[in-house]
Amino acid sequence: MTASNTPVRNILALAGDGIGQEVMAATRKVMEWFQAQGRARFNVTEGLVGGASYDVHGTPLTDATVKQALAADAVLFGAIGGPKWEQLAYDLRPERGLLRLRKEMGVFANLRPAMVFDALAGASTLKTEVVKGLDIMIVRELLGGVYFNEPRGVETLPNGERRGYNTQTYSTHEILRIGRVAFELARKRSKRVCSVEKSNVMESGLVWREEITKLKAEYPDVELSHMYADNCAMQLVRNPKQFDVIVTDNLFGDLLSDLASMCTGSLGMLQSASLGAKGADGRQAALYEPIHGSAPDIAGKGIANPLAMILSLSMMLRYSFDMGADADLLERAVQNVLSAGVRTGDIAEPGQTPVGTQAMADAVIAELGKLAR
Ligand code: IPM
Ligand code: MG
Repeated sequence: MTASNTPVRNILALAGDGIGQEVMAATRKVMEWFQAQGRARFNVTEGLVGGASYDVHGTPLTDATVKQALAADAVLFGAIGGPKWEQLAYDLRPERGLLRLRKEMGVFANLRPAMVFDALAGASTLKTEVVKGLDIMIVRELLGGVYFNEPRGVETLPNGERRGYNTQTYSTHEILRIGRVAFELARKRSKRVCSVEKSNVMESGLVWREEITKLKAEYPDVELSHMYADNCAMQLVRNPKQFDVIVTDNLFGDLLSDLASMCTGSLGMLQSASLGAKGADGRQAALYEPIHGSAPDIAGKGIANPLAMILSLSMMLRYSFDMGADADLLERAVQNVLSAGVRTGDIAEPGQTPVGTQAMADAVIAELGKLAR
């Protein structure tokens, strides 16, 4: 019953390793609901990434998969890695597959919201009053800094010692493009940006701070503050609600987003979007993924929390397909399911019997059905 004028969305689904498989399967069911309701038409292609790709192709990401990703309207990504592949050389590790995918797609802006659903405020290890109502957005630069810069490597010094080295640099254009994303997002939120670096120690941080400060002139309606990364880590635990949008570099963003995730109770709740620049034709590369890992300890047991992945789908609807109302609907369904006490093990409180991955997805789908009626 899909309306013939509903555009077909080409999606590359890369489930990856460990629980990536299970949460992807659960999320695909949610996608089928939108499809069956005539709300969307998804053309999903599956591909391999990470250890799953290494096992078949001897590399964590093939050129063919890169090509598919570049051709897709959006990529939905599960998780990668596991003990099985930890002994491999760096270039063959599952993580390299993800890093290369980000680079090839040019997705420089990583949006990592940390939102506390009311029903879960008690699930955080932090006091309920500290996290209740929390809604922050970490904007992480995703293609620069120590993650990608050259030179990098391991060398042997004349005295026989080994030395590992990486390079941290940030140049004007990299800072401005991520800064713009943060200021624009803040405009749609509480209009506050906190820029985070270590300009007290690092030249790259100093240039970061100065360029962001200059950029602020283009956004007179947005309030800008600066914070050192170590202080930001402390403030995120002490009083996270002081923040609205945090903009920071690749490495600090990696650390701070894991930290912020624990304000929400579980890493299993957090979605992310990685976006490229909008082309003249309106196309924008986009990669959606939960921020949790492949959780090898619980992989294959059917108990992983699929909500981070389901919420990543909601970000895809919102940012790639202009389906804001459907994204709202999906987020409301998740909220209601949590309020009704449905919990996977990672977010269950004493007295609550945990449900499995599929049962959680089914509960969300049932709630979608009720809400859409
Ligand atoms: C993340 C992950 C990745 C990163 C790893 C898996 C390469 O920790 O997305 O936060 O460090 O960026
Ligand atoms: Mg990380």
